[in-house]
Formats: sequence, C-alpha cells, structure tokens
Amino acid sequence: MNKTVFLQTFGCQMNERDSEGVKGLLLDRGYAFTPEIQDAEVILFNTCSVRQHAEDRVFGRSGILNKIKDRRPQTVIGVLGCMAQEHGSQFFRRMPSLDLVCGPGNIADIPEILDRVFKDRVKVTATDKINELEYTMDQVSYRSHRVRASVNIMSGCDHKCTYCIVPMTRGIERSRPSDDLVREIRSLAERGFKDILLLGQNVNCYGKKLEEGIDFAALLEKLDRESGAERIRFTTSHPKDANIKLFEAMRDLPSVCEHLHLPVQSGSTRMLKRMKREHTREWYLDRIAEYKKTVPNGSLSTDLITGFSGETDEDFEATKRLLIEAEFDSAYMFKYSVRPGTPAEKLPDDVPESVKHSRLQELMELQRSISFAKNARLIGTEAEVLFEEGKSDTPGKSVGRTRTYKRVVVHAGRDMEGRTARVKIRQVLNETLLGDLVEGV
Ligand code: SAH
Ligand code: SF4
Ligand code: F3S
Repeated sequence: MNKTVFLQTFGCQMNERDSEGVKGLLLDRGYAFTPEIQDAEVILFNTCSVRQHAEDRVFGRSGILNKIKDRRPQTVIGVLGCMAQEHGSQFFRRMPSLDLVCGPGNIADIPEILDRVFKDRVKVTATDKINELEYTMDQVSYRSHRVRASVNIMSGCDHKCTYCIVPMTRGIERSRPSDDLVREIRSLAERGFKDILLLGQNVNCYGKKLEEGIDFAALLEKLDRESGAERIRFTTSHPKDANIKLFEAMRDLPSVCEHLHLPVQSGSTRMLKRMKREHTREWYLDRIAEYKKTVPNGSLSTDLITGFSGETDEDFEATKRLLIEAEFDSAYMFKYSVRPGTPAEKLPDDVPESVKHSRLQELMELQRSISFAKNARLIGTEAEVLFEEGKSDTPGKSVGRTRTYKRVVVHAGRDMEGRTARVKIRQVLNETLLGDLVEGV
C-alpha cells in the first residue's frame, strides 16, 4: 500500500515551489497525496517565518496533531521550510508530536529523512544545508500546474533589512548558472509550459557571485533568446538594483512581461533608514518614474509595512502620499511583526497594535481606490491574455492574465487553457477585469 501524505504550504512562492518539489520527489517514491489531514500517514507543513501570524497558524495545529498522534501513533509529522530553519530542534519542545524538522536547504532530502523516521522511529532535525551552493530541489522537474511553472534563479539574501528574518532562514545569496536556467526553462517550454515565473528573494541581484559575469538584465536577454519560453515573469526585485538596463530589457524583450514588483516598505526616508532598506523615498520615486517612462504600459506593485518601530503619523502620511504618487496597480500590505533574532528586535515595538491595524486598513482602502481607478482606465482597451488551466466548477468561464499580470475573466464557451488571445476589457470588478474575446482570434 502507498503511504498517503498531507502537505500544506504557507508563505511565499519559493515555498510553493519547494512544496511542489517535495510532492514530485515523494510521488516518485510511490507516496500518494491526500487533502484530508485525518487520513494521512505523513503530515507535512511547509512553513513561513516572515510574520508572527504565519508562525501562529502552524503552532495552532499542535492540538489537532496531538490528537492524531494519540489515535494513530504511526503517523509521521514534520515541519519543513523557514520555521524549521529558524527553530531547529527547539521545535520538538514546542510541538512534541513532531517527528522531523527540515529547513529549506535540506528539503530535497525529504524522502531519505522519511525513510529514516519510518525505519528507526527517531526524531530528525535537518537544517545544516542552509548556505549550500547548489539547491538540489531545483533538479526536481515535477510541476503541479499545466500552464505556469516557477523556476528558482537564486536563493538566499545578502541584504540586512532590520525587520526581516529571511536571510536567517534562507541563507546567503546564491545564483544558479545561466546555462542551467536555460536548460530547465527550455525543457519546461518543450513540455508545454507557457508562463515561466523566475523566483528569488531579490531576482535583480542575480549573478553577483557568478564567475560568468552576468547580471539580471543579461539573464533575461539570454532566456528570451535561448529558452523558447512564451512568457517570462519574475519576482521579487529590490529597488537598489532596479535600473534602466532592466527596464529596457522589459520593454524590448518579447517574452519578458511588463510587470514589476518593487517592494518599497515605507514612504518615509526616516523609516527606510531605520529599516536599512538601502533606498530613500526619492530614490524609489526616481526609479519608478524611470520605469514608467521606459515601459509606459507596464504595471507596478509593491509591499508595505505599517507600524514599524518609531513610525509617526508624519511617516505614515509620507507613505500615503507615496501610494498616491506611485499609483501602484496593487500592493501587499502587512502590519509590522517583530521577528526574533533580527536587528529590529532590539528597537522598541512602540506603535500600538490598534494603530498598526488602523493604518493598515487606511492604506488598504486607499490602495483599493487607486487600483480600481487604474483598472477602470483599461475599459475599452484590448490586452493579450494567456489563459490558465480551466476549473471544472465554472463551465464556460476562462481565467487568464494580461502581460501586466491582471486577472481577466471571459466567457469563451470553449477550452482556452494555455492559449493566448486578445481580449477587450468590458468591466472592472475589484482586482478582476471582465472582458470579451476579440473576434477572429
Ligand atoms: N525579498 C523581498 C521580500 C521578502 S518578505 C523583498 O526584499 O522585497 C515579503 C514581504 O514581507 C516584505 O516585502 C515585507 O513587506 C514583509 N515583511 C518582511 N518582514 C516583515 C515583518 N517582520 N513584519 C511585517 N512584514 C514583514
Ligand atoms: Fe528580507 Fe530585505 Fe532580504 Fe527582502 S531584501 S528578503 S526584505 S532582508
Ligand atoms: Fe516566508 Fe520563508 Fe518565504 S519566511 S516569505 S517562506 S522565504
């Protein structure tokens, strides 16, 4: 009988990609997957440390896991990912039902780790490969979608933003050789994947430590020329390394999509200094002005934190003004959450929770109206839409993305999966655009 696995993923797209890799490796070994935690013989959580809330969701499972373990002591329970790296073997004290703790760097060893746990019934901690040059998970070819596929181009982060735990959980910055990337993406394109998402904590720092002397813009050129991918997207970029060469690559390369995710975090230079973001408000606004000039139809999104240590009403007002000035297409916003071991842990967490919350609400409200107004300008225009895999629960409805990564819904009346078509935008519903296929395509 095949052992059944329940795998739940928290956190960012790099974790999604890691989980996909775990699934591929375990399917190869004959495991089967179940969406029901109660049925599973192996329960795995791929976790995120970036905010306390993400951690609480995992710790909150303790009770149910204890019950499962009481009822079925043979069940193997593991935490993978960033929380595993952060807490290491301390995890076993917080969650006694755990059998294994495996950091992101060790995650490709999961099949062997499970073998050991099943055979010897020991508790295993695997966190030693955090800075390993080669990220072995990248060799897993399994993909869980049919149209889009993610590819890690680099891992880790050498920045030192004071609030951020990622450098501690993902290790030092490492880039994959460009020939490897061409090979992987070419093979994905040959398998029929249309939409390639390049992943990294700071993709535009790509190549810094490689001997081949390549930067991110040059990688995009090479992938455009040699990989055969229809669409190439990328996330996340750091403002410090956002430059005209990158914007020109986005403008000129047919496969590279015109969407830039450029986290700003705050609109106040005073806050940015405290965060050690290595950019000022002015630098950021100059970069996005340059981007908009170079890629006039491009879209722009960002990340923001409210209530970081020392944030005054004035700092917050500066963030609001930046939101209005930048006119982001969308923004991910978070309340500041102190992370253990980060430099900001030593700063006072002095913005009351209620203020963090109300500032977040205010920003979200403001951004909603900006996004809506921006999307409304698209009504009546045409866009190139790549359709994602169809969902059986919505007959006749097809969902796709523009090159600027806006979600578009059409009633095509036929299967559009993996196809690219021109769509005329008719209506805006919050973040989604409704449109009609343009006849003749
Ligand atoms: N490497 C990316 C983002 C990594 S984490 C970058 O540099 O932009 C994703 C987002 O989580 C960050 O952009 C930030 O907005 C948010 N974040 C990180 N640490 C946080 C913390 N301690 N509290 C609240 N939000 C945080
Ligand atoms: Fe964290 Fe800053 Fe690195 Fe992004 S650049 S992962 S926010 S330390
Ligand atoms: Fe979270 Fe780790 Fe990603 S902390 S955001 S899962 S890199």
